[in-house]
Amino acid sequence: MKFVDIVNSRFSYRGYLNKEVEQEKIDYILECARLAPSAKNLQPWKIYIVKSEKIRKKVCEAYAREWLKEAPVIAVFVGKKGENWVRSDGKDYLMCDITIICDYFMLAATEVRLGTCYIAAFDRERLKEALSLPENEEPFLMTPLGYPKPESRRERSRKPLSDIYEEL
Ligand SMILES: Cc1cc2nc3c(=O)[nH]c(=O)nc-3n(C[C@H](O)[C@H](O)[C@H](O)COP(=O)(O)O)c2cc1C
Repeated sequence: MKFVDIVNSRFSYRGYLNKEVEQEKIDYILECARLAPSAKNLQPWKIYIVKSEKIRKKVCEAYAREWLKEAPVIAVFVGKKGENWVRSDGKDYLMCDITIICDYFMLAATEVRLGTCYIAAFDRERLKEALSLPENEEPFLMTPLGYPKPESRRERSRKPLSDIYEEL
């Protein structure tokens, strides 16, 4: 697939089929994510791949949506506080690093025809508890990973290029 085709076929899927995800696909996606860049190459991250029904149930309590329960796998992207680059004016880039690795993960998932959906609106405390995260690990994003129900995607809606682009 050309890059533009991968980008064009990624949607936020809010519905998943009852079908297991092959471990080879998960390994491929993780390898792509591992190659993501980070500020000063500090790689201040960890990805939790939640497959166990018991922990998935707890994770779903942190974001109570029926469609999340359908996903056979949930990936949680965690930043390791204190291990990331901070600009000289104090700007913290941990969220930026985590967004990038999450994006690599999702685009790789798209290439192998799996569906994802960024989730940030979870209950942070519940999620930390569900994964028994240590104090220095901050969850920024999570996503279901699975074979999507095609009808669960919404129409693409984007601003025109003229609204978001300026040549100087
Ligand atoms: C940083 C970020 C956080 C998001 N959080 C949520 C969320 O908590 N729940 C949800 O259903 N969608 C969430 N989304 C998905 C957006 O609503 C979605 O990407 C946007 O509507 C564009 O649709 P598309 O992903 O299908 O292109 C999030 C997206 C981003 C980039």
